[in-house]
Amino acid sequence: MQTIFIGLYAHVKQIKIEIMEEQLEQVISMPRIGDAAPEFKAVTTQGDINFPADYKGSWVILFSHPADFTPVCTSEFMTFATMEEKFNNANCKLVGLSIDGLYSHIAWLRTIKEKIEYKGMKDVEVNFPLIEDITMNVAKKYGMIQPNEDTTKAVRAVFFIDPKGIIRTIIYYPLSLGRNFDELYRVIIALQAADEFGVATPADWYPGDDVIIGPAGSCGTAKDRMEDGDIDCKDWFFCTKKLDKATVLGRVLKK
Ligand code: BEZ
Repeated sequence: MQTIFIGLYAHVKQIKIEIMEEQLEQVISMPRIGDAAPEFKAVTTQGDINFPADYKGSWVILFSHPADFTPVCTSEFMTFATMEEKFNNANCKLVGLSIDGLYSHIAWLRTIKEKIEYKGMKDVEVNFPLIEDITMNVAKKYGMIQPNEDTTKAVRAVFFIDPKGIIRTIIYYPLSLGRNFDELYRVIIALQAADEFGVATPADWYPGDDVIIGPAGSCGTAKDRMEDGDIDCKDWFFCTKKLDKATVLGRVLKK
């Protein structure tokens, strides 16, 4: 009898440890570049979504903001909504999230449309989905809660997810700092240019600027490159080539 109790006790203790480990893992989970985007189902201002399955074949920017009815977030939503078509033309969909309920989201988005005028933007309708995450289920999976910044508000996280559901870039901003949406657009174009043309993009690259070709894998290749008129080698390991803007945008943007 005593052996059964000891066995049962050990079993229960093991289960408790596993649950605590799972909770801890959920709290500190931080997806990384190259990981499959964590899956979730959620309620949004545009209906239910099953992520990332519903977005297969498209790039997605999944981003969090600290709270509805706050000024920095309002300026960000107005900017993102105004630029949405530009992102959509680059085969990129937008999905927002905050730790607020659906009715708060709806009321905030209505207020933005009906009352807020900012930097020439007015009557702005937010048509992309905004996830309600009052349970913090998604925010925890994506490391959007950074407790030393705030325990109940998500930081300004931005995940760029490719058409196969792989995380390709992550950017985090603190609560006080509004994002640069031109930079987010530059990232989505640069990621696609890198995939389409098998190149890398140097500092401050914009479409039309020279691109970087991968390091030479052999002494022979290195020598050939130094002598190739179309390739500009600063040294054997640092070679660029021209890639004109129309070619890049012709491949990345919708025709
Ligand atoms: C804002 O969006 O204005 C904001 C949100 C949380 C903390 C600070 C600013």
